[in-house]
Amino acid sequence: MDVRVVVAGAVFDRGRLLAARRSAPPELAGRWELPGGKVEPGERPEDALVRELREELGVEAEPLERIPGEWPLKPGLVLRVWTARLVSGEPRPLEDHDALRWLAPDETDEVDWLPQDRPAVGEAARMLAAG
Ligand code: C5P
Repeated sequence: MDVRVVVAGAVFDRGRLLAARRSAPPELAGRWELPGGKVEPGERPEDALVRELREELGVEAEPLERIPGEWPLKPGLVLRVWTARLVSGEPRPLEDHDALRWLAPDETDEVDWLPQDRPAVGEAARMLAAG
């Protein structure tokens, strides 16, 4: 089976990490995630991330580096995460989310992350804390 990749962004701005609360589907609603979505066939993952962040949050972001690792979501779907820098715009929950929070490195445990996002969030928090 072909494996589809979901890309998500650990979006940094002024020393904080962006968290997004899912509004759908019902089984995921209310949990927090790093925003992102599925890579389209033939699309570069970094381009997919830029597109998803534009669609979901109305911002322009620049992917910086991949957080090592990959996390299974369900059969045939894996999550890969990039850090990204906010280039322009103020994120708004336009699609898929109903709340956003900017978290300082010592606040990243304050929201109920989707379990599959937790390892990347932990690494992103370490990177932020290290400056
Ligand atoms: O956002 P979208 O519905 O395209 O995401 C596809 C799948 O990836 C969903 O099952 C979603 O739960 C999962 N996902 C995730 N963590 C993220 C982003 C998406 O588990 N940070």
